[in-house]
Amino acid sequence: MYRVLRRGVLQNVAGAVGNTPLVDLTGPLSIKNGSRILAKLEFFNPSGSVKDRPALYIVRDALEQGLVTPSMTILDASSGNMAVSLSLMAVCFGLKAKIVVPKNISREKIDLLRILGAEVVFTDPLEGIDGAIREARRLAETDPKRYYYSNQYDNPSNVKAHYETTGPEVIRQTRGKVTHFVVGVGTSGTLMGAGQRLREYNKGIRIIEVQPDGPLHGIEGLKHMESSIKPKIYDPSFANELIKISTEEAYQYSKLLASRAGVLAGLSGGANVAAALRVAMENPGSVVVTLIPDGAARYVNLLLG
Ligand SMILES: Cc1ncc(COP(=O)(O)O)c(C=O)c1O
Repeated sequence: MYRVLRRGVLQNVAGAVGNTPLVDLTGPLSIKNGSRILAKLEFFNPSGSVKDRPALYIVRDALEQGLVTPSMTILDASSGNMAVSLSLMAVCFGLKAKIVVPKNISREKIDLLRILGAEVVFTDPLEGIDGAIREARRLAETDPKRYYYSNQYDNPSNVKAHYETTGPEVIRQTRGKVTHFVVGVGTSGTLMGAGQRLREYNKGIRIIEVQPDGPLHGIEGLKHMESSIKPKIYDPSFANELIKISTEEAYQYSKLLASRAGVLAGLSGGANVAAALRVAMENPGSVVVTLIPDGAARYVNLLLG
């Protein structure tokens, strides 16, 4: 995905999306049954999260298809990370961004949006991300000429980004040895895109979905699907297995990754690793790959609170 101008110089930071490192957590997690856990550090992306992958594809595809022109504003609803990624891509591609977020998203993310020059609209925290989605839809309908509603929940470019980048990277970085892929769902773009690519490569690879264990949870970025507006790109029957993780476990593993492995993982990364550990323990000799979707820096106050 890197676009190098010459002698290793990128045209802009959009060229630094993807090709994130895979780090071995087997030792730090004290796994001794022959299994390995490998985590893809998505906070190495330019805005600090996995969402740079779909944001780049969504904006680039929309420009190529003529769905967005330079006078238009990119509009989306997000729990934070997609908001930051879209705002960053808007800067890279010379566009404006307007983002609808629930008012309780972390202070660090709101500040990043402001620094990137995005317009921010707040919705009732009690309505969660679904309240933000409803408001973005309403805004898009009131002025379709002004807004390109990128709609990450239903946009096939979201899945395509992971199909063309995350999936192949996991195959290449494990030299094809991955046996289990464990991934939390928000929009489900990572699960559906990377999962499909891995299954095409080897249909024996088990795809494991991770969700919060209840509708009221604190794992930013993940959705409890049963009680939420379901993304159109999501197929509930796609994964081989579903693991539910509590907010407490997500916090616990985020902190544990920092102190034992020096990996500064956000809360969904903690949830993913907690689930990956269960899979590794139940399947001796497995090669379990998971993702750290963003870094701890965005949740420092929460983690210390
Ligand atoms: C921190 C975090 N983790 C996980 C996810 C889930 O990724 P996906 O939308 O590909 O399901 C997101 C998505 O916004 C996120 O922000």
